[in-house]
Amino acid sequence: MGKIIDGRAVAAEACLGIKARVQAIAEKGVTPKLAVVLVGDNPASRAYVGMKEKKAAELGIATAGYKLSAEISEDELIALVKELNGDASIHGILVQLPLPKHISEERVLMNISPAKDVDGLHPVNAGMLMTGRKGFVPCTPKGCVKLVESTGVDIAGKNCVVLGRSNIVGKPAAILMLAKNATVTMCHSRTENLGDITRGADILISAVGVPNLITADMIKPGAVVIDVAQCRVNDAWRGDVDFEGALEVAGHITPVPGGVGPMTIAMLMENTVEAAEKTLD
Ligand code: GUN
Repeated sequence: MGKIIDGRAVAAEACLGIKARVQAIAEKGVTPKLAVVLVGDNPASRAYVGMKEKKAAELGIATAGYKLSAEISEDELIALVKELNGDASIHGILVQLPLPKHISEERVLMNISPAKDVDGLHPVNAGMLMTGRKGFVPCTPKGCVKLVESTGVDIAGKNCVVLGRSNIVGKPAAILMLAKNATVTMCHSRTENLGDITRGADILISAVGVPNLITADMIKPGAVVIDVAQCRVNDAWRGDVDFEGALEVAGHITPVPGGVGPMTIAMLMENTVEAAEKTLD
C-alpha cells in the first residue's frame, strides 16, 4: 500500500516560506501585486481564479482582478496586457487560460513582459528553462517536482516518464526532471505500448486528462505517481490515474483533488514574490 502525497500540506509548508518573503519585502516598502485576468465565464476558470485570489490575500499579496467579457477583442486584451506591463505597481500578470476561441493565446502570452510572466509561459521564459538559466518556471510542473521531492525519493538517475506534451505542463515537467538528473521519457497521444513504458517509470507524471488512463498494472511497484489531471466524472474530480488501484502498487501517489492543484497555486504565489523581489535588486 502506497503513501498518499498530501498536496495541501506540502503547499501549506511552501506558503510559510512565501509569506516570510512577502513580509521581508514589505519591510522594504514593496507589496507584491498580481494582476489576474479572466476572460469570459468558464466556471472552472472562474473557480481557479477565485482560489488564486484567495491564497494571495492570505499571504499578503495584493491582486488586481480584471473580469472581462468573452466578447473582448484580441487587440483590446493585448492593450490591457501592455498597460499592465507598464504599471510599476504590478509585479506579475496572470491571464487565465483557456481564452475564447477568437483570441490567439500565443499572441496574448507573447505580449506579457517576461519579467512579469509569473506563469512562465512566455517563450523567453520557456527558453530560459530549456537552457538551464533562471527565469519563471510554469507553476504546475514546478509544483510537481516539489511534490516528488517531498517524498524523499532521490530524483537523480531515476526513470521519469511524463505523459502529455503541453507547453504548460508536459514539456516543462520533462525539462525540470532532466535538470534534476532523471532519465526522462515523454509519452503522448501517439505513443505505442504506453504500459510498457510506464511500467519502467520510477517517477510517473501524468498530465493528459483521460480518467483511468493509468491503471495499477501500468505502474512499477514503489513508483512515485503524480497525477496532474482534473476531470469531472459523475460530479466528482478524477485524475488520469485509477487512484484506488494505483495506491496498492505505487510507493507514493497524489490524490485528485488535494494533490497537484494546491501546489500550482502556491507556486504562482512564489513566482509573484520572486517577480517583486527582482524589482528590488
Ligand atoms: N489554466 C489551467 N491551468 C493554468 C495555469 O497554470 N495558468 C493559466 N494562466 N491558466 C491555466
